[in-house]
Amino acid sequence: MKKIFFIFLLASANNIFCQNLYKEKYRPEFHFSPTVNWMNDPNGLIYFNGEYNLFYQSNPYANVWGHMSWSHAVSKDLLHWQHLPVALREENGIMMFSGSAVIDKKNTAGFGADAMVAIYTGHTDTLQTQNLAYSNDVGRTFTKYNGNPVLNLHKKDFRDPNVFWFEKNNCWIMSVSHPNEHQIEFYRSQNLKDWKSLSRFGPTGDTSAVWECPDLMQVSIEGTNQKKWVLFTSQNSTMQYFVGEFDGTKFTNENPATKIFKQDYGTDYYATIAYHNTPDKNPITIGWLNNWNYANEIPTSPWKSVMSLPRKISLKKIKNGWILIQQVIPSFQTLRKEAVVFVNKKTAKEETLGFSGQVFEMEMLFQPSSTGESGIKLAVGNNHFLKISYDAPHQQMIVDRSQTNTSFSKIFASINKSLATVQLKNGKLKWHIYFDKSIVEIFVNDGEAVFTTQIFPEENENNIQLFSSEGQAIFDYLNFWKLKNIW
Ligand code: FRU
Repeated sequence: MKKIFFIFLLASANNIFCQNLYKEKYRPEFHFSPTVNWMNDPNGLIYFNGEYNLFYQSNPYANVWGHMSWSHAVSKDLLHWQHLPVALREENGIMMFSGSAVIDKKNTAGFGADAMVAIYTGHTDTLQTQNLAYSNDVGRTFTKYNGNPVLNLHKKDFRDPNVFWFEKNNCWIMSVSHPNEHQIEFYRSQNLKDWKSLSRFGPTGDTSAVWECPDLMQVSIEGTNQKKWVLFTSQNSTMQYFVGEFDGTKFTNENPATKIFKQDYGTDYYATIAYHNTPDKNPITIGWLNNWNYANEIPTSPWKSVMSLPRKISLKKIKNGWILIQQVIPSFQTLRKEAVVFVNKKTAKEETLGFSGQVFEMEMLFQPSSTGESGIKLAVGNNHFLKISYDAPHQQMIVDRSQTNTSFSKIFASINKSLATVQLKNGKLKWHIYFDKSIVEIFVNDGEAVFTTQIFPEENENNIQLFSSEGQAIFDYLNFWKLKNIW
């Protein structure tokens, strides 16, 4: 009887626990976050058998970085996720650092036809090597290859292998980072086990911090049926991309070397990689929405960190180079609920809107004031707000979280503004904003620039204000949608 009572107590405690999950303060409702504990980089993004696999760096034991393992979730639509057991754990003192996954259709490695093979960095304090693990049950369980490591340069920093099948040359290509040299090295292999060095790319562009998490892929050029090669790198704590050609041996950047091209100008976007093998072969990216400078200090519990919305990417030629165009995948619109629309509103000073919230999507086209700063404030209340503005005299867009709650971390408080030069189009600016409790992703001019930022507002800090510090701003239209909870 005692035993039954105990089991009943356990079951109901578990129930209460589950019921409260995904309802916590700051918990995003339409972004992916782990149930409990720490998460960082997305790993092994692979579409297989109608499922998008999302592996990610995790600490299975605590809500801070450590004991790095690969946790696992799957989705049929990239919107709703099912959590699965931890796929690959730290073992014998070797942590599972970031990497990628492939489907070995031709059984080149001998792990079985259609084996899912994870290529990851094995990390200790003194050595990083590249290793394999394989799964014959669509990623549910993995076996570490007994011939590991497959690539060992006896280096302390050498990490984040990203592998794809290069049809043209009938071989696997790996991009892997030499963080301190600001270089990406390319390798080729016939069997995933023996790797031959091809070339190195870098140092160039942003070399202000270690390079991590490379990803090399082909991306469509808007309005054509042509593609170019794009290389992503992450450098603590922002990202950059290069656009050019990959000839099977080396990558050549065709963008001006003097300019840094960023995926995201916000404070919280890092370690992004892509699903390469999507049904339409156009890459879809997912990034980690946090920043190493304060990642462990953000005030969320029992989880830490969120993934970005999946972004569909393409390329566009502008005057001085190729830019990445990023848009949330179109099927995201199925999450929309009631809409509010208004047109043609002129604002001088400040105006609080008649609707509010912390979970919404908003699209607006406006003509900023030509003399000062104008735009929108979100999470307004208790003298707090997030200010998203355009400073017309300086042609700059600014996302300023200095007036939000920053009390939990001095470093977070000091990294409080993101800026980028943005040109108006016919005197106007288009913003597509996704606000989800503690995450704000802002897509500018149909995805030509993006800003992602974390904020930690109280629940009643939910008003929305249009403003213009000087002169008049004209809002052509503003569409606002409440969104369904994905959990
Ligand atoms: C990037 C990174 C990777 C590394 C992983 C460790 O955020 O530093 O270079 O593999 O995180 O968790």
